[in-house]
Amino acid sequence: MKLETKCIHSGTVPDEQTGGINTPIYTSSAFRYIDDGKQSYPRYFNTPNQEAVIGKLCALEGAEDGIVFSSGMAAISTALFGFLQSGDHLVIQSELYGGTHALVTQQFPRFSIDYSFVDKSIEALEAAIGDKTRVIYIETPTNPLLGIVDIEKVVALARSYNIITIIDNTFASPINQNPLQFGIDVVIHSGTKYLGGHSDICCGAVLASEKLIEEVRVSGIDFGGSLNGTTCALLERSLKTLHLRVSRQSENGLIIARELEQNPKVDRVYYPGLQNHPGHEIAASQMQGFGGMLSFSLTATAPSVTEFMRNLSLIVPALSLGGIETTICAPALTSHRKMDRESRERIGVTDKLLRLSVGIEHPEDILKDIASALRT
Ligand SMILES: Cc1ncc(COP(=O)(O)O)c(C=O)c1O
Repeated sequence: MKLETKCIHSGTVPDEQTGGINTPIYTSSAFRYIDDGKQSYPRYFNTPNQEAVIGKLCALEGAEDGIVFSSGMAAISTALFGFLQSGDHLVIQSELYGGTHALVTQQFPRFSIDYSFVDKSIEALEAAIGDKTRVIYIETPTNPLLGIVDIEKVVALARSYNIITIIDNTFASPINQNPLQFGIDVVIHSGTKYLGGHSDICCGAVLASEKLIEEVRVSGIDFGGSLNGTTCALLERSLKTLHLRVSRQSENGLIIARELEQNPKVDRVYYPGLQNHPGHEIAASQMQGFGGMLSFSLTATAPSVTEFMRNLSLIVPALSLGGIETTICAPALTSHRKMDRESRERIGVTDKLLRLSVGIEHPEDILKDIASALRT
């Protein structure tokens, strides 16, 4: 089946009793114990709605198994703590979601897990590998600068050292990038973003082989970040339109990136679909579309980012991303505010940077709002 069809049909468990074509919502947290070996319980990740939505996500990413969590961070922390223990070493990109950076820097020292934040080039990743390195963690495109990492090269490098690879695939979504096909071991999503897509649920997912998911499940049961049946059902419904939404967001993203490049108040546009983006060719080879996320920096003569956001009337300044409505944020004041200024500026997150999550509105309306807020 093609992705469009999988979005709609995979994983669904139709209602046998009534003939209803959707997976029913099972609200129970207690399930009658039947002596057939299966004990269903929300925190064991094996209730009917959890299994239905995992079935759909596995089909979309080409994974054997997976787990849905109550947030993207629950997925990331459970996977990392599932694979790493005291004395192990993690190699991780420095240019990535600020929350992941905070998790590693704030929590890992407490458990004596070593880590190296490095540039996303293959040379830098390889130089950081040591005897104790057990995991390489990447994010591509990166949040918020849309940097691109060559997935196949990372896989080849990790395999030569027998290291597990984890990718945060949130920005691309399974519609634009399927990292397991390139040999990545573990795919993570913040389902709060494109998978949910309507800015109304918080969830996350880890997808991998049955063997690796078993390792994550052990930590998952201990840490307890499970997702309830109603939110699983909302996620399952949202996934049915994932292809439609992300395709439109990718089309709009390219149109808006090209137009912003022409705006005299815009200094630089970061979008992997632009030919002048340093990762354009790699992105074109590993992504089906370039997505709806882009960033841009304002010139010195433009309004400040705060003033610009205040001037907007259609686009909503908001922390999250991936929704059907266009939202914007200033990463230095939001996702990366916990990072010190020097580390932030080293990776390009300046005070003039804005991150746009392009929705499914008409692109002309989005562009008009930006031009008017920039007073151009
Ligand atoms: C790329 C990326 N990964 C992970 C997360 C964390 O997800 P959540 O907020 O659902 O915990 C985010 C949140 O913004 C993100 O942008």
